[in-house]
Order: sequence, then C-alpha cells, then structure tokens
Amino acid sequence: MGSRLTARDIIQIKKKGRKITMLTAYDYAFARIVDQAGIDIVLVGDSASMVMMGHKDTRFITLGEMITFCKSVSRGVERAMVVGDMPFMSFQTSRIEAVRNAGLLVKKGLVDAVKLEGGVEMADRVKAIVDAGIPVMGHIGLTPQSAAMTRGYRLTAKSAEEALKLVRDAEALQEAGAFAIVLEYVAAEVAEAITRRLDIPTIGIGSGPACDGQVLVLHDILGLYENPPPFSKKYADILLPVKAAIERYRQEVIEGIFPGEEHTRHMDPEELREFLNRLKSG
Ligand code: KIV
Repeated sequence: MGSRLTARDIIQIKKKGRKITMLTAYDYAFARIVDQAGIDIVLVGDSASMVMMGHKDTRFITLGEMITFCKSVSRGVERAMVVGDMPFMSFQTSRIEAVRNAGLLVKKGLVDAVKLEGGVEMADRVKAIVDAGIPVMGHIGLTPQSAAMTRGYRLTAKSAEEALKLVRDAEALQEAGAFAIVLEYVAAEVAEAITRRLDIPTIGIGSGPACDGQVLVLHDILGLYENPPPFSKKYADILLPVKAAIERYRQEVIEGIFPGEEHTRHMDPEELREFLNRLKSG
C-alpha cells in the first residue's frame, strides 16, 4: 500500500501532459484487475448503489455500505490511488459531518482520498476536509445525487449562463484545495475551457476529449449493467459468457458430470476399510 499514487502524483500527470485514467471498482477481485491493468485512480463510486445493490439511483447507498466496498477495493490495489465517494447526506448537512464521514472512509474504508458532489455551495466542505488532511476530488456538471430529485439526467452547461456558473464552481473547488475535479456530462467546449483554466486536473465522463483524464463505470464498459448512460462505451460484453458458464455448471451438476474424478479427493484405502468395517458393526 506504501507505493500508491498520491494527489501530488495525479497533478504531476497533468503537468506532464499525459492523460489520467480512472475507472470504478467495488470489490477486491475487480480492483486487482483494474490496478494491474495500469489505471491511475480506482474510484469506489456511489454508482455501487445501482450496479452493485440494484437501487434505481445513487441516493440510497449508506456510508456503512460504502465503507465495505471501499475496504474490499483497497485490499486489492497496490499502485493506483483509491478514491471513495461520499454518499448522499454524508456531507451536505454540515462541515463537521463532512469531515467526520470523510475520516471514516479513510480510517475504515482505507481510501486515499474522497470525492464529493457540488460546486460553490460545497466548497466550505471541501476546504474543511482538506484542512483535516484528506485529499478531496470535486464532482460538478451532472451530479447524480441531486439530479435524481431536481434537474434530471441531462447534458449540463448548454447555455452561456450555466457554463459560466460551472466555471465558477470549478474555480471555487480548486480554491478550496481539491486536487482534481470530475466533470460529468458537461458540454465539451465548456469542459475544455475549465480544463485550460485550472491548474488541477479535470476528469471527464461524457464531457469530451479535452479533459485531463477520463472515468467510466466498470460495469458499463464490461456490458454488465443493463442501463448504461449514452456517453459510456462498451469495451467487452462479458454478460453472455458469464451466463453461459453458469448454465454449463448447472447442467453438469444436474447430469452428474461435475464433480468428476479430477475434482474429487479420496480417503487412504486402509482408513477407508477401517471406516467401513466400523460403520457396519454399528
Ligand atoms: O459514482 C460514480 O461512479 C461516479 C462516476 C460516474 C464519476 O461518480
């Protein structure tokens, strides 16, 4: 765990002009694969609420559940930075709650940094958490926790006014000490303008190619989630092969093909004889 990338390393990647790669993971097995594939940041997103827990949006996952997912991921990652999402209502209520809950994600969830949604209105939470010594990643544009109840899932910063507000949000987060900002579903021109304006990296999702890095949801790129957003890309379709393997296993159990001799271990013949004799004599 000692050699994981830090917030400073992530900022350096922007300075060197290399794109930053970020992908979600929620468990030990996939976190190992994501890390070994060379991804820079593993995000334990609150998208877990949907892709791991079957809720209809991200608002329903609890801090305790996020901590469990974060801990599992953290144990599987050696090189990447692990960022844990602060779930709905774990930071909105007050700065004190925000710092306390960010601390729990670090101490119990073993993450290297936290991410929270919101711009100018959440800058004081970001500053308080950073002042407490925990790196913070911002998240603006489409912010699913509030979009579910207010704006809906739509492209953001389409009007000049909305675009200017987003620039102010990004600047406020940088000023508050965030080390990077996720720009979700932001018009590409605005994402580019923000990326040029900031010293810290922008990580885009559905926000065009000019961002300093990109993030997607693991289940979407593997074809495991039935309702991916329009800006995602499927890099593999593992649902059908996984289902086929499970169906074959089921069939082999029913037909008595599995377990075969190669998956079966036997007693020592002498012990077996003794066992059968004693069983017979009651
Ligand atoms: O929860 C999540 O997976 C996220 C990404 C979509 C950025 O916040």
